[in-house]
Amino acid sequence: MPDTNKCVLVTASSKGLGKSIANVFAENGYDIILHGRDINKVKETKQFIQKNKVKTYEVIGDLRDKEVIQSLVDISKNKITVLVNNAAIPCYGLPLEKMNNDKIMESLESNLISAILLTHKIYSLMKEQGFGSIININSIVGKEPKKFRSIHSATKWGLRLLRSLEYVVSKLEILGVS
Ligand SMILES: NC(=O)c1ccc[n+]([C@@H]2O[C@H](COP(=O)([O-])OP(=O)(O)OC[C@H]3O[C@@H](n4cnc5c(N)ncnc54)[C@H](OP(=O)(O)O)[C@@H]3O)[C@@H](O)[C@H]2O)c1
Repeated sequence: MPDTNKCVLVTASSKGLGKSIANVFAENGYDIILHGRDINKVKETKQFIQKNKVKTYEVIGDLRDKEVIQSLVDISKNKITVLVNNAAIPCYGLPLEKMNNDKIMESLESNLISAILLTHKIYSLMKEQGFGSIININSIVGKEPKKFRSIHSATKWGLRLLRSLEYVVSKLEILGVS
């Protein structure tokens, strides 16, 4: 039987916007599945979040690693109510011809493919349990073209195409945030 407690998984929740999002959910009584690449930052965030007296779970690692995706899915079973796809590398701000294959693949895999693979599995869990919301953190470059942002824009436009899975979270009203 699914646990009816509220629980959110926020990718890259050990710093930046992801940490703030996790904290707002915790203030609203959600248990938090924390994720980050730096174990020390994840531990610091866990302490910061726990002032809200909610449960926290942690997964460490790069989202391009399929075992990390699987760990996030395993820990989400019977508890997840909200997934926030937040992780993304910053835009390189380079003209396309200056982007080598490694940079292109890093952007596509970190910002888009990992979010699709995670969503694919978490969406299945949510369908089985009959409820759940998915929030994709986007960008203005996912709405309109900007100079020197072609690959970053492509990842954010791709992420936007997952929007048929998005729902409004009642108190936060975040929806494909730009
Ligand atoms: N800040 C802005 O002005 C702005 C504007 C528009 C949209 N956004 C969006 O807001 C979201 C959060 O950005 P932010 O401003 O908080 O930037 P940030 O502090 O750089 O956070 C991005 C996080 O994503 C993580 N990440 C990147 N690739 C990863 C991978 N392959 N596996 C695991 N983690 C990965 C980074 O991990 P590491 O710390 O290990 O590198 C970092 O923690 C992003 O989706 C971004 O595109 C931000």
